[in-house]
Amino acid sequence: MRSSVGLKLGSLTLDVPFFQASLSGYSDYAMRTLARRFGCPFTMADMILDKSAANPRVLRKACFRPGADEHPVGAQIIGRTPATIATAARDLVAAGYDVIDLNFACPAPKVLQRGRGGALLNDPDTVIDTLKAVRDAVVCPVLMKLRIGVDHKPQSLDSFWEIVTRSIEHGVDGLVIHGRTVSERYRGKADWGLPAAVKSRFPNATVVGSGDIFDPAATVELMKKTGLDGFIVARGAVGNPWIFRDLRCAWENRPLPAPPDLAEQRLVMLEHFERMLQGHPEKRAVRKFRKFVVGYVCRHPKRKPVQMSLMKAKTRAEVEAAIDTWYTDTHSSTDW
Ligand SMILES: Cc1cc2nc3c(=O)[nH]c(=O)nc-3n(C[C@H](O)[C@H](O)[C@H](O)COP(=O)(O)O)c2cc1C
Repeated sequence: MRSSVGLKLGSLTLDVPFFQASLSGYSDYAMRTLARRFGCPFTMADMILDKSAANPRVLRKACFRPGADEHPVGAQIIGRTPATIATAARDLVAAGYDVIDLNFACPAPKVLQRGRGGALLNDPDTVIDTLKAVRDAVVCPVLMKLRIGVDHKPQSLDSFWEIVTRSIEHGVDGLVIHGRTVSERYRGKADWGLPAAVKSRFPNATVVGSGDIFDPAATVELMKKTGLDGFIVARGAVGNPWIFRDLRCAWENRPLPAPPDLAEQRLVMLEHFERMLQGHPEKRAVRKFRKFVVGYVCRHPKRKPVQMSLMKAKTRAEVEAAIDTWYTDTHSSTDW
């Protein structure tokens, strides 16, 4: 067993050095609570627009339930104006969120056109004003999600370092750095060299990496190599809550458990869908569950027909029947 502390995010200490990322459209109550059940110590909810944070519908959409057994849980805010973002942070903490994360990373064109998310990486003054305003507004860990620049131009790199340096001076509780530029979106392999350089220049700051976390053993090696404090799990957790159990084992130097058999996959898929139904009306739960299907079915020996059958299901009964049909022992071989 490793003896070192997992991950310290200001006043919050996790026993392992990872948590579940904000994943817009995915990281709802169902995904978060399932991640927790599989050993993830902290999860982030879907990104919230600053202007809508006071709207009760937004809290409902994130399926956040004040008082529900899913603490600690973080809220990520995206916006353009420091004062509005700070008000949102206050509202979200009052609603029960435990951590605030500021999004300066989102590469979606709609977001960039409005000068939000990754667009702010070219505007260090606004980023720092936002951090200061949020710090003044809430008493809880405040994180910042960054990419390694808007693009690979030297000015972008200068802005990145300015943001990193000044946010650490202003007491950010953790920098979560996705090792791609905004213009790269999700192309290519994530660059962990720059996040590692941040950690080596600022050894007392908490630096968490992001990008291509899919393989538990490789991730532990990556942590050793880069010296980072931790990492977030994003696409690797979609339709794959087992990744948290496996990452925990790999981190604690224990043998990985056997991959789940069809019977276990069936139970977990039904559980995930049931948790979705607790947070969404049936039609939306069915639509949302489809987003996770690709992740789940890649373990199935008959992936294609299983995927087709689950994608076609339109009601709760049809989803459950498709899972019941395909996830039985008779379908455990590739011969059919
Ligand atoms: C569908 C999708 C939605 C995402 N939504 C968010 C988000 O709301 N906030 C955020 O900071 N990052 C978001 N990300 C980025 C991830 O948190 C993560 O940084 C990125 O996917 C790289 O990690 P990975 O390669 O392990 O997936 C999203 C990524 C994907 C694929």
